[in-house]
Amino acid sequence: MKVFITRQIPAAGLDRISSVCDCDVWPERMPPSRDQLQQRAAGCDGVLTLLSDRIDAEFFDAVGPQLKVVSNFAVGYNNIDVAEATRRGIAVGNTPGVLTEATADIAVGLLLAAARRMREGIDNVTNQEWATWEPMGFIGQDLVGKTIGIVGMGRIGAAVARRLHFGWGMSVLYTSRSDKPEIDDQMNARRVELSTLLTESDFVSVHTDLNPQTEKMFGDAAFAQMKPTSVLVNTARGGIIDQEALHQALQSGTIFAAGLDVTEPEPLAADSPLRGLSNCVILPHVGSGTVASRDAMATIAADNLLAGLQGNPLPHQVE
Ligand code: GLV
Ligand code: GLV
Repeated sequence: MKVFITRQIPAAGLDRISSVCDCDVWPERMPPSRDQLQQRAAGCDGVLTLLSDRIDAEFFDAVGPQLKVVSNFAVGYNNIDVAEATRRGIAVGNTPGVLTEATADIAVGLLLAAARRMREGIDNVTNQEWATWEPMGFIGQDLVGKTIGIVGMGRIGAAVARRLHFGWGMSVLYTSRSDKPEIDDQMNARRVELSTLLTESDFVSVHTDLNPQTEKMFGDAAFAQMKPTSVLVNTARGGIIDQEALHQALQSGTIFAAGLDVTEPEPLAADSPLRGLSNCVILPHVGSGTVASRDAMATIAADNLLAGLQGNPLPHQVE
């Protein structure tokens, strides 16, 4: 069986694959171009892909009908046309569960950093501008006893809610496609409409997937409903936020601050005005970036790939 792996991945996964497959690993730090991706994958039975690889009908045509499986090294899979894969009988896998806690930690870190103006503080010290301790300098938002609004109460949303409810005594509001009675019981949480969540929350953390319904769901209308003291955190997908509207909201004080682990595009455009805003903390998409998470993602991605090559159901298959 011949497979193409579109980037170097942890040995925990690579060793499993290379012990049984003829595998070609893209050796460079930067992703293959669209042409390179299609050329290298042509004739392969399986591919292991990253978020930066666009997998669609054109890709499938170029690779050929022997392709059995696309294993994405991520929990999100908006880079893959899953409907098209399914139509062609190609299985698609993802890596849920193992990056929940790591990503929740980054969400809480961004919330703290944005609420307490850490970017401004770090810049101030780094640029040698810190002159003296001031009673009214760098005043941020309190966290204890406030309300967190979780947009998308999946595994990661629940892990963030748990941290903030049990750690900081926050009340929990959330939006979700379905009721979550066990979360309501554990955290006294309440499922509400998005507009209620936006008007009542002090902090809003985004954990939904990117799809046509959630694309740019945070635009002018959403920001107008949020409190001027509120902080928005996004560790899900950049496309869920309209970045021009966010820039406007941050600059005009419509909301207090934002913490982003994801942007659109990634990396952020060189001339994006968000880069210059001291009340916008931006990280380079590191939510799953811990040793244990990345090793576990590699292991699951390998297991998905190998199952698909053998024609078996994937341990984590998406449809
Ligand atoms: C990362 O963003 C992932 O979807 O795993
Ligand atoms: C991801 O693992 C989620 O379901 O939130």
